[in-house]
Amino acid sequence: GKSGYDHFMLKEINEQPTALRQGLSGRLDELAGRVTVEELSDVETPGRVEFVACGTSYHAALFGVEALRAADIPAQAFLASEYATGPAPVRDDTLVVGVTQSGETADTLSALREARARGAETLAVTNVVDSSAARECDHVLYIRSGPEIGVAATKTFSSQLVALTLFTATLAERGGEDARELVAALRDLPNHLQHVLDESRAADVVEEYLDSEAYFFIGRGPAFPVALEGALKFKEITYEHAEGFASGELKHGPLALVTANTPVFAVVTGDDERARKTIGNVKEVEARDAPVVAVTDGASDVERYADDVLEIPETHPRTAPVLTNAQLQLVAYHMANRLGRAIDKPRNLAKSVTVE
Ligand code: M6R
Repeated sequence: GKSGYDHFMLKEINEQPTALRQGLSGRLDELAGRVTVEELSDVETPGRVEFVACGTSYHAALFGVEALRAADIPAQAFLASEYATGPAPVRDDTLVVGVTQSGETADTLSALREARARGAETLAVTNVVDSSAARECDHVLYIRSGPEIGVAATKTFSSQLVALTLFTATLAERGGEDARELVAALRDLPNHLQHVLDESRAADVVEEYLDSEAYFFIGRGPAFPVALEGALKFKEITYEHAEGFASGELKHGPLALVTANTPVFAVVTGDDERARKTIGNVKEVEARDAPVVAVTDGASDVERYADDVLEIPETHPRTAPVLTNAQLQLVAYHMANRLGRAIDKPRNLAKSVTVE
């Protein structure tokens, strides 16, 4: 049942700290500052990684690409439906990773079959033990989120981000990279997430934007998939127009849509070049009178340019997206709830899409 929650979605959002503890259990060696993922021990170190996935899982795959590239491992993500009908050339050292919560998504299975037929080694990153993806791939990494009932993927996305971080760290450690700080951040992540869930101001923030024309989400680097996922969750359950953009793309077209009636959720963590550039983009939307909601760890001065702030604790760049995304999950949930939508069963959508 819903254990006292109004919706499975809210229950599952709140289950995330537990889901992450399960996903990390036995997979961190804190003393040695290493990750220890048994399922990956017989996966040969690939020369390049290609992800195939759909929807929310595709956003997790984009996060995986960003993480692998930061570790100097060439990586690319494909929409499974595109890969299935136009597969990429497979080299000897290519590992094709299917990211699929259910393990039953037709497009993803079909893409993985194409990859295998071309001789690629395959890995399934999935939640469902013994699912089709788990059975058909050469290797499986279970995300251990526990069952997800709501059509909107929430805790499984967070668990996918953590599993892909473990996957990346495993390969990076083989290349001699030191994972000590990352291991500490992963250890603290369930508590940080609990803090975000307990303290979130999302329910108040949405009150101010109930009658907007459209909702935009921007981010750069690891915050880009968070922006895409924030917009997908929002449109899926509120039925309002929402779009996610890479911050840098704004002025290449989407800025034409920005008005005083289109709130922009800007995901900005850290205080590096990427943060500074996204703040530049925030100033551009402000100049068009758009309200800005900053989702931030407070490391930069983005708050100065924001009408509202949704805060997360400071953490490692690899773990920040789990926390910023949780704020956007709550934004989507509370907006949909205020609008009286069928949150657990949004119109026209199914939990598992088993046709291509
Ligand atoms: O089971 P999968 O992860 O393969 O599902 C892929 C998508 O259908 C899924 O992520 C979908 O986009 C979400 N349920 C949206 O919230």
